[in-house]
Amino acid sequence: MIASVHQELWQNLGAATRSRSPFTTMQLATIGTDGAPKVRTVVLRQVDEARSTVSFVTDLRSPKVAEIRRDPRVSLVGYDPQGGIQIRLEGRAVILAQPEDKKPIWDRCRSHTLALFQTPDAPGTEIASPRGAGGTLEHREGNEQAFRNFCVVEVELQRLEWLDLSPEGHQRCFFRRTAGSWVGTWIAP
Ligand SMILES: Cc1cc2nc3c(=O)[nH]c(=O)nc-3n(C[C@H](O)[C@H](O)[C@H](O)COP(=O)(O)O)c2cc1C
Repeated sequence: MIASVHQELWQNLGAATRSRSPFTTMQLATIGTDGAPKVRTVVLRQVDEARSTVSFVTDLRSPKVAEIRRDPRVSLVGYDPQGGIQIRLEGRAVILAQPEDKKPIWDRCRSHTLALFQTPDAPGTEIASPRGAGGTLEHREGNEQAFRNFCVVEVELQRLEWLDLSPEGHQRCFFRRTAGSWVGTWIAP
């Protein structure tokens, strides 16, 4: 029974990268450089059950990258209001900034996503007024600046948690990865 929850959890994550679903966006929490929690929305780009990783893309200049480099512990949470399912993930994040590591996901991103990385303004810096919307990348292969700013964040998961708020009765369990395999435990909701 708990094994089928584990399977469903990974199915939900995998499906979220193939088409839009409630788990396509998740909230990512990091430990701020000031020690306070920081949370924001990211798009799940890749899920690899065999390696127990989930990945998203971001701007190398964004504060979350410095935060992760300082302390790689992160949490993610997503909620499907229709299914009444909350998924919480915990793990250690790695910044993939080398061209050969980030290129496979760069190649799969849509042009309007990649265009966001062209901006000369580092995310979070003060600007005089909002710029126009991102547009598209004219020269996908040639846009070296956008590619330089682009990075992949891969989170190696160590804990998964499932909360099912079905009317028939709430169910909650977590899975901890030890020696490469997942062990599940039911817990009180
Ligand atoms: C629906 C949605 C999806 C987003 N997806 C991403 C994403 O995949 N990567 C990213 O870096 N920021 C994404 N953002 C913007 C972040 O939430 C955040 O504002 C930005 O990355 C700056 O975060 P930081 O200052 O903590 O680094 C998204 C925002 C929204 C509302």
